Amino acid sequence: MELKVNGKTFNVDADDDAPLLWIVRDEIGLTGTKFGCGKALCGACTVHVDGVPVRSCSYPIAAAVGKEITTIEGLSDKTAIAVQKAWVDNHVPQCGYCQSGQIMSAVALLRTNKKPKDSDISGAMSGNICRCGTYQRISAAIKQAAESLV
Ligand code: FES
Ligand code: FES
Repeated sequence: MELKVNGKTFNVDADDDAPLLWIVRDEIGLTGTKFGCGKALCGACTVHVDGVPVRSCSYPIAAAVGKEITTIEGLSDKTAIAVQKAWVDNHVPQCGYCQSGQIMSAVALLRTNKKPKDSDISGAMSGNICRCGTYQRISAAIKQAAESLV
């Protein structure tokens, strides 16, 4: 199958139902996307498919053919840069394990909602679990990034 990841084309040999997560990590070597639960419950594996955040642990590779897949390594637009800066400024990560998934969800939110309210942020981020409890800093960083993009 031919996959387009972060603007590059890769040919991969895999079953149709192989999870996108393992293709991205093991076949393509992009290890910024993490494995957490494997059941679409924690958000650690979040990537974008045609700009929409999906749980790559439960997303069959065949469904990604012909689409633009973006991982944490491929984020480079101004929204992503604003989010990355806000994450640093707010010292968001603790252990860091969940953070690539958190950032993928935050960037997707800010691309579609330039002025998110608290309820928008909690709604968009509710599928991303952080065992270190960095939720308040995540929320503050998203607000800072939104303000910097106005
Ligand atoms: S590893 Fe995919 S949602 Fe948890
Ligand atoms: S920073 Fe440790 S799980 Fe989120």
